[in-house]
Amino acid sequence: MAPKSIATLTKLSFLILLVIFASSQAYDYHFIETNMTLYFQEYYAGPNATVNKLTRIPGNIWAFDSFGTTYAVDDQITQSPDKNSSKIARGQGIYITSSLDGANMQVLISIVFTSNEYNGSTLEIQGCNIQRADVKEISVVGGTGKFKFAKGIATFETICTHKSIFYSLIRCNFTVLHY
Ligand SMILES: *[C@@H]1O[C@H](CO)[C@@H](O)[C@H](O)[C@H]1NC(C)=O
Ligand SMILES: *[C@@H]1O[C@H](CO)[C@@H](O)[C@H](O)[C@H]1NC(C)=O
Ligand SMILES: *[C@@H]1O[C@H](CO)[C@@H](O)[C@H](O)[C@H]1NC(C)=O
Ligand SMILES: *[C@@H]1O[C@H](CO)[C@@H](O)[C@H](O)[C@H]1NC(C)=O
Ligand SMILES: *[C@@H]1O[C@H](CO)[C@@H](O)[C@H](O)[C@H]1NC(C)=O
Repeated sequence: MAPKSIATLTKLSFLILLVIFASSQAYDYHFIETNMTLYFQEYYAGPNATVNKLTRIPGNIWAFDSFGTTYAVDDQITQSPDKNSSKIARGQGIYITSSLDGANMQVLISIVFTSNEYNGSTLEIQGCNIQRADVKEISVVGGTGKFKFAKGIATFETICTHKSIFYSLIRCNFTVLHY
């Protein structure tokens, strides 16, 4: 009798645990789709570099195509290609050359909105940048503020480069679903 009731009790507490740990609720959320085009004003070297070397693997050179090289990034993001156009956000995060042959780079960037209706909202971009591709497609894995529960896709294209001032203009188009 006693062992049986213990077994019943164990089953019961297991059920209670299940209820506690697997509690869920159905919501009738409607996703909103937002498309946007933004321009990253990137200085990859020089006195006002927005991409700065952080670390590397000892013995490897510092370079975008050298495995392990890591950069801290804080690019101005504008609404149109012109550097002087409305500053809408900053692109802040980390680049790491992540393939042994140096071809691919792991990108971990937050788009931190600084004006307009999206001020204070963020989007998280994370994925593999195939550096030689003309159009890089990288996932949008999350967001905050106006972009809560965001997921989607972003493309990156280098529109022009001015080597003398270490400048690249990068166009980012994204499509995200969010609440
Ligand atoms: C966003 O862009 C996608 C892909 O280009 C398109 O299919 C969709 O209709 C656009 N959505 C809006 C809300 O403009
Ligand atoms: C760097 O920024 C400073 C201050 O904004 C500016 O005076 C200088 O011209 C810039 N240098 C380059 C090479 O862009
Ligand atoms: C952008 O602004 C700077 C200083 O504010 C100015 O020197 C430069 O000519 C402007 N560039 C363009 C393309 O308007
Ligand atoms: C964006 O939000 C910050 C913090 O709330 C505020 O200080 C700033 O003035 C806002 N900027 C614009 C352009 O609305
Ligand atoms: C990004 O959007 C612009 C228009 O805003 C369009 O001209 C360009 O083709 C798009 N790029 C990609 C890779 O879809």
